Amino acid sequence: MFALPRVLAFLSILTFALPGSAQSILEGDRSVPVEARNGMVVTSHYLATDEALKVLEAGGNAVDAAVTAAFALAVTQPRSGNIGGGGFMLISSEKTGEVNAIDYRERAPAAATRDMYLNEQGEVDEKLSRFSDKAAGVPGTVAGLALALEKYGTISLAEALAPAIKLAEEGFVVPPRFSEGIRERALLLGVFESSRKVFFKPDGGFYEPGDLFVQKDLAATLRRIAEQGVKGFYEGQTADLIVAEMQRGGGLITLDDLKNYQPEIRKPVHGTYRGHDVYSMSPPSSGGTHVVQILNILEGYPLAESGLNSAKTIHLMAEAMKRAYADRSQYLGDTDFVQVPLKGLTSKDYADELRAHIDLGKATPSAEIRPGNPAPYESNETTHFSIVDKYGNAVSNTYTINFSYGSHIVVDGAGFLLNNEMDDFSAKPGVPNAYGLIGGEANKIEPNKRMLSSMSPTIVKKDGKNFIVTGSPGGSRIITTTLQVLINVIDHHLNIQAAVNAPRVHHQWLPDEIRIEQGISPDTIALLRGMGHTVEQKAAMGAIQSIMVGEDGVFYGGADPRRSTSSAKGY
Ligand code: GLY
Repeated sequence: MFALPRVLAFLSILTFALPGSAQSILEGDRSVPVEARNGMVVTSHYLATDEALKVLEAGGNAVDAAVTAAFALAVTQPRSGNIGGGGFMLISSEKTGEVNAIDYRERAPAAATRDMYLNEQGEVDEKLSRFSDKAAGVPGTVAGLALALEKYGTISLAEALAPAIKLAEEGFVVPPRFSEGIRERALLLGVFESSRKVFFKPDGGFYEPGDLFVQKDLAATLRRIAEQGVKGFYEGQTADLIVAEMQRGGGLITLDDLKNYQPEIRKPVHGTYRGHDVYSMSPPSSGGTHVVQILNILEGYPLAESGLNSAKTIHLMAEAMKRAYADRSQYLGDTDFVQVPLKGLTSKDYADELRAHIDLGKATPSAEIRPGNPAPYESNETTHFSIVDKYGNAVSNTYTINFSYGSHIVVDGAGFLLNNEMDDFSAKPGVPNAYGLIGGEANKIEPNKRMLSSMSPTIVKKDGKNFIVTGSPGGSRIITTTLQVLINVIDHHLNIQAAVNAPRVHHQWLPDEIRIEQGISPDTIALLRGMGHTVEQKAAMGAIQSIMVGEDGVFYGGADPRRSTSSAKGY
């Protein structure tokens, strides 16, 4: 969002690769991916990319590099990189043929209650659910990353933390995006003394590009994890500092909540699309379910013929998207607490049924779309990175503290920001959250429950081999951003950089509008309006960090120019 002027400039000079082999880079193509043969890292911050790449070069695997990148991002990109939040990691091993998911989403504290954000009038108090200690769920990142390393990695937690500790202890040179971010959120960050201490100079001034940004408290917190493992975060001094913060600000997280936090290994959602296997995140994320559901609907249309971002293609995508988001509002929640009709939602039969109601030339108003009837239950700032290694492993990781800078509250003395992920619950079923998403009873607040997410770390395989590794931040837009990169490669045969760069569209049922980025032609917009769509051009969406593996085994990295610090590097 903050890099908008840059993306506008970029998109205005953009040309797309002509259809052809998905692996081909055509002469004169201005969207050229980074190429390498042994390993590839694509993250939203070049310092995290550099540290993860060093791990691969030293013989580490993709999981080692992923955990290293995640901790490095927690230091270099505090607006979304984190140890105070949570996320999801998909890990694909070509050797075992398995794709597994680590769910390290935050959980509601044990004392959380359904109506905890409602005021006396029964209205949602957004300040409480977004910018207070009560907005924080129990963080999962440290436990999730440690589990990933223990099960699938080859280096120690201390080794994975070492670069992050150094970056926090010795500091790093501030890039323009860092200063811009703090400036944009200065009012909110400035509310909290502990955040002021970290994000502003001792005289209250801003860190400017070129300044050194040192985080001594964060370095000490990371060192405790390196020395004591997960207990160094969930127990002892760091846990005490989190609970002290809760007591100061009226939050709910207790020492027991922290001690009891456990990440889960889950089976990802699996679907197929035009002969490819698609794996993406299962609940408590809605992401994978709806990526697969929308792909199933679109599989019935020859999108390659209707063409990239033509009015017909956008119309079909929007119609499929709005039906999926209507279902999201009704059915999705944490499957440890509620039944979600996953098989039904992701079945080809259900997609056929939904497709049958799509008019090829006319928009169906969202008011006429209700959540459908899948087969019954079988028994805004976030950050993503993608990594592949020479051993046939791929990691697709999205993690978040929800908003840019989360709750905006730094745990005093521990140097990290707390998430405001509790706002992803339906504070009042039927009332939209910060992303305009409507949630239902399935996503009501319950103690220890995980709040519904849209994060969609995704791995696509072709003939059993890793093919596309992708995912994005962007709140409610994550699902559609991810989906479009898959379609851009599979249907429109763009190389991965062009697929990432291409202007995106989004429809989430309510509000009933197609949101578009700059770069969709006025003619197309006029045609869409003629079909009855409301079309609104708004800020750029997502920051999708992607890798494609060519048939020749070459890794192609596509970093998203919508973030000025994005970086793809291989060796
Ligand atoms: N906090 C955004 C998401 O998880 O979808």
